[in-house]
Amino acid sequence: MSRSFPTELSGYGEKLIRDRHATRAFRPEVVPEDTMRAVFSLAGATPSNSNAQPWQVEVVSGATRERLADALQAAHAEKRTSVDFPYSEDMYSPVHQARRAAFGAGLYGALGIDPDDHAARATYDAESLRFYGAPHAAFLFVTGDGWARLAADVGAYMQTLLLAMTAYGVDSCPQGLLSFYADTVRAELGVTAGKLLVGISFGYADETAPANRATTVRAGLESTTAFHD
Ligand SMILES: Cc1cc2nc3c(=O)[nH]c(=O)nc-3n(C[C@H](O)[C@H](O)[C@H](O)COP(=O)(O)O)c2cc1C
Repeated sequence: MSRSFPTELSGYGEKLIRDRHATRAFRPEVVPEDTMRAVFSLAGATPSNSNAQPWQVEVVSGATRERLADALQAAHAEKRTSVDFPYSEDMYSPVHQARRAAFGAGLYGALGIDPDDHAARATYDAESLRFYGAPHAAFLFVTGDGWARLAADVGAYMQTLLLAMTAYGVDSCPQGLLSFYADTVRAELGVTAGKLLVGISFGYADETAPANRATTVRAGLESTTAFHD
């Protein structure tokens, strides 16, 4: 028997997925504790290979968030980067590079920064280590051997978490940049196991901020997806 879904439910799913977007300026209001617990327990419903659930999540708020933001900015100023997952510009193909450039032009355009003004972009990046002003940040660690298949599971966790936040009216920004300071995050939070994949700043958007006016588009279905009969 084929399954059918009520139109409203499909509409809700579509709206939830399309409504999620990266927020890069937040108001200071904190997320209530019951919302916080609901969102993270919903994210735990993420599927993973053999249900291994290879994620460890560290959520920072309050004084810990403040201390970590200071430590991240100090590490950045002293160029003390430490990545658990290697990063290189070379990993992007020309088509990826073109999409990244379009994204950068949109974001920096909204901010009034010339995309070629590398000093202004660097200042903006350094400032982003304060979580774009968000009152909370979640750090996603990959446990076990941390190889690609386990990291993919944690990537799936990230998306479920972002959608759970959207469902509860919480805005977010995944920030790969936060993972460039893995040793700093580990030291400040006393984390001894796992590889840092990404940090996610979250709270409530400052709707008046220019950064939050930037929008993104996606490649057409045909350019990423083939259907085989
Ligand atoms: C793994 C990952 C890392 C990201 N790192 C950053 C980052 O360091 N700084 C930032 O401002 N946005 C970052 N983003 C947000 C992306 O730029 C954003 O998701 C993308 O441009 C699509 O826009 P949208 O999320 O508004 O749909 C990251 C997103 C992901 C999924």
